[in-house]
Amino acid sequence: MHSENIYILGIESSCDDTAASVIHNGKILSNVVANQSIHEEFGGVVPELASRAHQQNIVPVVHQALAKANITKNQLHAIAFTRGPGLMGSLLVGTSFAKSLAYGLNIPLIDVNHMQGHILAHFIDVEGFNKPPFPFLAMTISGGHTQIVKVKHYFDMEVIGETIDDAVGEAYDKSGKILGLGYPAGPEIDKRAQLGNPKAFKFTKPKVDGLNFSFSGLKTAILYFIQKETKADPDFITKNINDICASIQYTIIGILIDKLKLASKQTGIKHIAIGGGVSANSGIRNALKDGEQKFGWTTYVPKFEFTTDNAAMIAIVGYLKYLDKDFSKSNITANARLKI
Ligand code: KG4
Ligand code: ZN
Repeated sequence: MHSENIYILGIESSCDDTAASVIHNGKILSNVVANQSIHEEFGGVVPELASRAHQQNIVPVVHQALAKANITKNQLHAIAFTRGPGLMGSLLVGTSFAKSLAYGLNIPLIDVNHMQGHILAHFIDVEGFNKPPFPFLAMTISGGHTQIVKVKHYFDMEVIGETIDDAVGEAYDKSGKILGLGYPAGPEIDKRAQLGNPKAFKFTKPKVDGLNFSFSGLKTAILYFIQKETKADPDFITKNINDICASIQYTIIGILIDKLKLASKQTGIKHIAIGGGVSANSGIRNALKDGEQKFGWTTYVPKFEFTTDNAAMIAIVGYLKYLDKDFSKSNITANARLKI
């Protein structure tokens, strides 16, 4: 099955990153991402601007991905693209481009679920990184998603928990906004958290049944806390920034780990993988290592370039579907609310 030389181009445009990647069998030859800095001044992604930037970026990004892989488009066996979930205007750019290219080259088109991409990124061949065995639990944590998924096989997945409001990355970014930090604030909060006392301030964890998450109450609690404290001392934030960040991080990581523990207990699964931009967080990485000691978990964190939004994860899913000859129909459409 793996003896053939299969080249697949993956295209990702679900949110604010335009990305393209070439995969040769299970190995990534190129992984190009054009980030859109335009959103920084707005403190969040502006959909209208995102789709416009995708249109500007898509041709150069694909061109670069092919050049870096040192192949021509005529050597491709299929085009894989993100069908959803995501922002409709953003998805339409990648979908239409992928369709046209596949049609022009007369090769198969393969639609990919972005969330499955985050999870199946663990199956890219990378030296020093192990692939999780089935079944495993995958927690996808980013600015757009927070899910726990039971992965029985590549395309046999079940969402067993998800956020009922904000995503965990949003909790970081919105807390950062309250503290006057730049966007996205996750990395900065993480950096400062490592210098502060995690127990300096206490924020109550939300009470959500089962394996679901909620982060909007935490954001409000932080807002009220900061408003109250700065009334008493206008320099409160500056004086306590590291402790505030450490306390926020401690609360957020506590919420994530509580749910993972429960998911592992309920399913009896001890192989735990994470994905999405928040996987870069030092707190979650340390907590997973602790889990290996305390609960006998085996944990999997993908290489950094495959955790944030990227097209390599779309290309690997494309490759797995190609092996199954699971191709898209020519009338396939983008789906902003696509489910796993
Ligand atoms: O996966 P990603 O690049 O894009 C999507 O949102 O899909 O994730 C970006 C999110 C942002 O919310 C950012 O603040 C957060 O990931 N993030 C972090 C860290 N690095 C990125 N959050 C906490 N700690 C980090 N080190
Ligand atoms: Zn994502």
